[in-house]
Amino acid sequence: MEAASQDTRSDDIPSFMGEDKVRQECKSLISSLPSDKDFLGRNLCNYNGFWFYSNTLQAVIDVQNHFRTLDTDVIVASFPKAGTTWLKALTFAIVNRSKYRSNPENHPLLSQNPHTLVPFLEIDLYSENKTPDLAKVPSPGLFATHMPFLLLQESVKESSCKIVYVCRNLKDNVVSAWHFRRGYMISEMHGTTLKLMIESFCRGVHFCGPFWDHALSYWKESSENPDRVFFTKYEDMKNEPRAQIKRLARFLGCPFTEEEEMNGSVDEILNLCSLRSLKDLEINKTGKAPCSIDCKNFFRKGEVGDWKNHLTGEMAKKMDEIVGMKLQGSGLVFE
Ligand code: A3P
Repeated sequence: MEAASQDTRSDDIPSFMGEDKVRQECKSLISSLPSDKDFLGRNLCNYNGFWFYSNTLQAVIDVQNHFRTLDTDVIVASFPKAGTTWLKALTFAIVNRSKYRSNPENHPLLSQNPHTLVPFLEIDLYSENKTPDLAKVPSPGLFATHMPFLLLQESVKESSCKIVYVCRNLKDNVVSAWHFRRGYMISEMHGTTLKLMIESFCRGVHFCGPFWDHALSYWKESSENPDRVFFTKYEDMKNEPRAQIKRLARFLGCPFTEEEEMNGSVDEILNLCSLRSLKDLEINKTGKAPCSIDCKNFFRKGEVGDWKNHLTGEMAKKMDEIVGMKLQGSGLVFE
């Protein structure tokens, strides 16, 4: 695959894609790992089967070495652009609902972006500091990660914390990722980058990829430990949002009571966390997420099947074939 040139590199690329925060011991490790380039020609290295930018790998290793979950923690895990922002908002709203019932106008989701309320471990908390101070994190601790379960498991093995995971069909996922990158890397993204990006995804060489191994790592764990890992798909959340958030609340140990169902609690949370509501908030129009990306980039169309507006039949077929082959026999199927 021919990667796009780096000549037009913009100065505002997010830190997680950089190489400047890597410490000496990790540099030695990286030099011993398989390496490749992403679709823009930026370096990726393969750590235990998954591809990371150097700064993120440093943080992943720090998470593995230093982060230990508490029983009450919830980890929102996802493949990038699969619906993370939505799942973060829903999880926050569900577990904190009793705190804001009597003063809904003060709900944190009205003034803070979901990525601020549920920070990423390897992209936010551990990206600047190998041992961030988590003492002030409100209970229950809500954290997020794009790490596959295989890399996260070290941090969660000694607690009974809960993990909620979302993934999405690859075609919409790639189209979403392409729009997202275009939002903050305008000078690097042009007509050919979608094609290059698809090629990278089909080779499995992309940030946090391969896509299928990421999804399978949580799929397998949720099948074996359904009380520990909640697995959902963006498409299911769109098709049956009420059923999915009730399932999520049950999983998190705080099911909606009959009274809450009668008094509209479920719909209130769905409305609060809807794409339309969040996108219209001042903070999400003008604010920045912790990784310095403008919040507005996290909210676009949120439609299932948007790939039809961007991909050729041939591109779609290629992606369906490779995903079908990689997931064969697992029981995990994307429509
Ligand atoms: P599209 O680009 O297809 O519109 P992530 O949160 O993992 O970065 O994923 C981003 C995708 O989720 C984007 O999809 C975005 O529009 C969509 N999204 C963000 N917030 C949402 C919400 N509250 N409800 C539904 N979809 C949402």
